Amino acid sequence: MQKSINFSPLEYEKPSPGEILERSRSFLKLMKKRRTVREFSDEPVPDEVLMNCIEAAGTAPSGAHMQPWHFVLVKDPQIRKQIRIAAEKEERTNYEMRYSEEMKKDIEKLETNFEKPYLEHAPALIAVFKESYRIENQIRRKNYYVNESVGIATGLLITALHYTGLVTLPHTPSPMRFLNEILHRPGNESPILLLPVGYPAEGTCVPDLQRKPMEKLLTVF
Ligand SMILES: Cc1cc2nc3c(=O)[nH]c(=O)nc-3n(C[C@H](O)[C@H](O)[C@H](O)COP(=O)(O)O)c2cc1C
Repeated sequence: MQKSINFSPLEYEKPSPGEILERSRSFLKLMKKRRTVREFSDEPVPDEVLMNCIEAAGTAPSGAHMQPWHFVLVKDPQIRKQIRIAAEKEERTNYEMRYSEEMKKDIEKLETNFEKPYLEHAPALIAVFKESYRIENQIRRKNYYVNESVGIATGLLITALHYTGLVTLPHTPSPMRFLNEILHRPGNESPILLLPVGYPAEGTCVPDLQRKPMEKLLTVF
């Protein structure tokens, strides 16, 4: 059978046991400092930094390498304002009608409400879209493990932003179809997250949350 793509040797340098341990420790230390931030300064972020982080997200593994994601970077203040108005409209309905009492109780500790000023204050928004299916030569083709693949890519994006020294917030003003309209994305794409990106506002505080301890996080056989 003829191969449709070539295979090349893996680019890989094996770290020494000391190095691998050191890297795991310093990465864990870095990741422990990642926090969701809801107050942003309006200081601009260099374009290349945002592009690099988005390109890093695009290195994620995906089902059958379909790469079922698309990112939209919004810096234009007018469009950010439009997004804020549409998101707050949905969020107001969420808080007043759609959220169950249980959910409201669960998010109470975060002290959030329908107002989303960060959608305008943060200098950049990244909207993450999943490509539920794709169109090739006008034929609808399947993508595989779309939610898993886009979730992993978004995880890489959040990690990359954190690594560079930026902060973000995974925001879900569901339903988010308004993003298709405002950002002119086609019907095979659905927005899954809206990430305001930038630097934290001076004096930003975050809730004191506990992460799951290892004995609850992990089972080893
Ligand atoms: C899928 C997803 C959706 C989220 N949606 C919102 C949201 O709409 N608004 C919000 O303020 N935070 C949202 N968050 C942020 C969580 O509240 C936050 O990650 C959690 O409280 C833990 O805090 P930490 O990220 O600082 O560790 C979301 C997080 C995830 C992963």
